[in-house]
Amino acid sequence: MSAAPISAKIAELLSDQRQLFSFLNSSPIMARRGAEGVSDFIFGNPHDMPLPEFSEALQKASVPQSKDWFAYKMSEPESLAVVSESLSRRYQMKFSDEDILMTNGAFAGLAVSLKAIVDDGDEVIYPIPPWFFYHPLIKSTGGVPVRVGVDKTTFDLDLEAIERAITSKTRAIIVNSPNNPTGKIYPRQTLQALSGLLSDASEKNGRTIYLLSDDAYCNIVFDGIEYRSPSLFYSNSILIYTYGKTLLTPGQRIGYLALNPDMADKGSVAAALYMAQTITGWAFPNADLQYALPSIETLSIDVAHLQERRDLMVERLSELGYQLHKPDGTFYLMVRSPLEDDEEFCYRLAEHGILVLPGALLDQPGYFRISLTANDEMIERSFSGFGSALASSG
Ligand SMILES: Cc1ncc(COP(=O)(O)O)c(C=O)c1O
Repeated sequence: MSAAPISAKIAELLSDQRQLFSFLNSSPIMARRGAEGVSDFIFGNPHDMPLPEFSEALQKASVPQSKDWFAYKMSEPESLAVVSESLSRRYQMKFSDEDILMTNGAFAGLAVSLKAIVDDGDEVIYPIPPWFFYHPLIKSTGGVPVRVGVDKTTFDLDLEAIERAITSKTRAIIVNSPNNPTGKIYPRQTLQALSGLLSDASEKNGRTIYLLSDDAYCNIVFDGIEYRSPSLFYSNSILIYTYGKTLLTPGQRIGYLALNPDMADKGSVAAALYMAQTITGWAFPNADLQYALPSIETLSIDVAHLQERRDLMVERLSELGYQLHKPDGTFYLMVRSPLEDDEEFCYRLAEHGILVLPGALLDQPGYFRISLTANDEMIERSFSGFGSALASSG
């Protein structure tokens, strides 16, 4: 018996994630958050007041109308109807209520999807740069994370690299479009080709490879680009959604899973997800959020305004001499660090009151990430600091 005070699995995850956790807990960049005059571009957190309609819906939903108003809630029938109707209308494809499971955000959606389908030693592929938590979420289920690069200039999926990464142990691939952090929306042809590739490999393996479609940013899309969920191109897909990005309310935990209506073994997968939700600590959204769902389903932050912020930042930072590309969607801009050591450059920006995320934390060394959820004042006052930090690094 080990004398260690914690489980070996968690100890390994803590060790894997030490760079991120040390950034969160003890970085001088994090320490400056909230200080006077600082421009905080670190995370996709709100820096403006929430949508008033969201608060009104929650206030209404919090007034009990029956004795079991706050009883245990799972995927409530009214919520399922709202989601299936919304998805069917959006994608012109019939989703039924049985295809949907309500969860507390995409975080839980990913955790329970992985728990439902991954056995010890199963491989789960994901493109890099990724969202930070794919790696620990995969490992926590006993799965083996397999990282695959994307095209370096377009940030599109590298299908040949994915094909090379698939083995007889591959169980799933996570695809996130629009992508955090690159902002890329994967084109239809790429997703069709990926679907063919996954079907062929599943057949060869004699075991299904699932596509986990992380659609957290599906409503944060710019330039009128047509967005279709990657989950629609391949029948063995689970669509994973959170309202936290569309409403910019990540502290209010609600989202859902939607099984592709044509999925094989849909009933077994739904039952496995339901079990996984239960044993993941009741991963269902709170009662009041589910009652508020009919009102909040149609709400969104001002995406046109976010696009204006993107355009302003791309224009002004390019004029200053930074190298960056225009994202198709999401809250994020990836900018090349003028110094090879991106962390060092982020410290220099922090000295000028500008807080950003080092690319090293996102498997993208040599870059830093800006979140466009900083407010307009923060953005406007940041440009002189961005200029001075660049000048001092030349
Ligand atoms: C790509 C991606 N997936 C999932 C999540 C988790 O979203 P939530 O916290 O709303 O569940 C995030 C949050 O940043 C994300 O960026």
